[in-house]
Amino acid sequence: MRELPDETRRALDIPADILALEPDQMRRLGYEVVDRVIEHLTTLGEQRALTTGDLVTLTTQLGGPIPRQGSSISENLTKLADIALANQQHGEHPRYFARVPGPSSYPAILGEWLATGMQSVASSWGGGSGPSTLETIVCSWLRDGLGLAPTCEGVLLSGGSMANITAVITARNIKGPGIIYLTDQTHSSIKRGLLAIGQPPEHIRILATDSSFKLNPIDLRAAIEVDIENGLAPMLVVATAGTTNTGAVDDLPAIGAICESFKMWLHVDGAYGGPAALCDRGRLALPGLERADSFVTDPHKWLFQPYDIACLFVKTPGALEQTFAMNPEYLKDVAGGAVELQNRSLELTRRSRAVKLWLTFRSYGLETLSAAINRGIGLAEYAQFLVEEDERLEIITPAALGIVTFAGINADAADHVRAAAELTADGYAAVSSTVLKGRTVLRLCTINPSTTTDDIAGTVARLAQFLSRG
Ligand SMILES: Cc1ncc(COP(=O)(O)O)c(C=O)c1O
Repeated sequence: MRELPDETRRALDIPADILALEPDQMRRLGYEVVDRVIEHLTTLGEQRALTTGDLVTLTTQLGGPIPRQGSSISENLTKLADIALANQQHGEHPRYFARVPGPSSYPAILGEWLATGMQSVASSWGGGSGPSTLETIVCSWLRDGLGLAPTCEGVLLSGGSMANITAVITARNIKGPGIIYLTDQTHSSIKRGLLAIGQPPEHIRILATDSSFKLNPIDLRAAIEVDIENGLAPMLVVATAGTTNTGAVDDLPAIGAICESFKMWLHVDGAYGGPAALCDRGRLALPGLERADSFVTDPHKWLFQPYDIACLFVKTPGALEQTFAMNPEYLKDVAGGAVELQNRSLELTRRSRAVKLWLTFRSYGLETLSAAINRGIGLAEYAQFLVEEDERLEIITPAALGIVTFAGINADAADHVRAAAELTADGYAAVSSTVLKGRTVLRLCTINPSTTTDDIAGTVARLAQFLSRG
């Protein structure tokens, strides 16, 4: 009988339960986390909307040399909640109006916890048939709810940035290289993505938007014709269904018709605005979604999901697989099932982002979700109403898909930046300033249904006061 080498024996002497905890301890710690999260969620309105710490203090509190010995999990959980997770934006705070809020909901949080606890995986059919099925189900619910083309296939990704660039990679693979048309309101992550995937800068056109911050179809057609005259190949238009700055929606029916006539690919970025199409008023503001060859929307923005989850749809069945399929020898025993989600993007190991969205749809139902979205649209309209009533303020762009921008009548650019910074530093609310056609303005994004009319009134009143102080 051969002897095992000593070092192997010593390794095998390490107990198999080295990382295990007692069931009671696991339960107690789990309940601590639940209690902590419920406390957080039910007192959000009394907390600061955003807290930014300083690196030295945070590193001193959380860092130090690599811990060689373990320490109390309970105490470490408290440290995480009190220090690390307290020093951040709370996108789910009722007065977090900056950039794009992330108002997540409790069923979605539960879904995320469950999926994590069960090490959910949605890569291959053989390794994750249940989660893979969930993903195809939530994608088809979303596709139908949003009114996308019925042939659309979906895949869940980490966010709008990844989903948009995955769409562009797919378009380029199917149509071949060519000129890509953006606007000055296209989200900045798309240009970054284009450069990262090697799109030559001289093959990117950035078209100026009109006075409503929308792509003018006449300008688009003219730009395409100039490129064709110069022997270039127009390939893709990126239109936006809800720009981050103003909520503007490009004219998708007209742009779709142009793309069709030039045999170009229409990609629509509805990362923040897309979910609005789940409610009647949003659907009216977003005509033409069915024209998109690819479409992106982020449930972690306006569909009440914790980070992260974005959804990419591609109209041509099989186009994603044609672009991303791989079949190496070490994956052969798990491949070959109904759907291989590992073959729909660059992600191989991927947790199930569908669990939380499935639970959200099932728990609330479309009617409640659509009403929650409609409330966000109404809150921006209420903010517009208050701004119009206040003689110190003026509307710059009217409420559109839960975004409104406004400015102080007698205030300059610096005053606006200062007002946003002061209100945010004060902790009452978090708001952004932005620049529209050279003018610095204030912007509220009101997609959190738990925001009250008092929250809106308090925020507008404080901003008006900061601005009029000069
Ligand atoms: C219109 C639009 N596209 C893309 C993105 C990028 O999405 P993410 O931050 O999830 O990568 C955003 C983010 O706000 C957005 O508003």
